Amino acid sequence: MKENIDKLVWVPSPREIAVEKLLILNEIEAIGLPWLENLAHTAAIARKRAYIPQTGYGVGAAMLDTIGDEHSGQNVEITTLSETGHAEEQSMKNAIDKSVIQRMGRRFVRAVAVSHEGDTSPCGRCRQIMKEFSDNALVIIADPEGEIRRITSLRILLPDAFGPKDLGIE
Ligand code: THU
Ligand code: ZN
Repeated sequence: MKENIDKLVWVPSPREIAVEKLLILNEIEAIGLPWLENLAHTAAIARKRAYIPQTGYGVGAAMLDTIGDEHSGQNVEITTLSETGHAEEQSMKNAIDKSVIQRMGRRFVRAVAVSHEGDTSPCGRCRQIMKEFSDNALVIIADPEGEIRRITSLRILLPDAFGPKDLGIE
């Protein structure tokens, strides 16, 4: 057992990470950096609409869908706390309200930009919701002015994810 313990340990391989970095760079090139910068600014504008009586911590999100439309969202804090809507989640739900699933299927998320004060990433719950609506997507972290701090991908933020495919959902 002891000598085989190495085989039981799973971590993403350096090769997988290097391949993902290339995919991210290709996707930035395919969409165009100016469009992503614009998406980050849209997220910053959405942040100004945040309803945040409890924490004062505003988050704005702007989601680019697979046909090129943008959908924004912001956090909405409900006094009972657990009903609070997160910005990223709201951007996807707003898109669903506009029939994106009927028009382009379940994988409608191409990129999500998020704007807030901290240099942090979307929470685990938002990552899981993104996974429902994309096999992989760009994630752009921006400051309150909408300046991009970094760009990564859902696959990096949620490796070895459990998703629709695991239940046979295409
Ligand atoms: N928040 C988001 O909007 N998205 C996240 O993924 C992280 C957290 C919000 C929820 C709450 O209103 C505030 O940020 C502090 O947690
Ligand atoms: Zn969240």
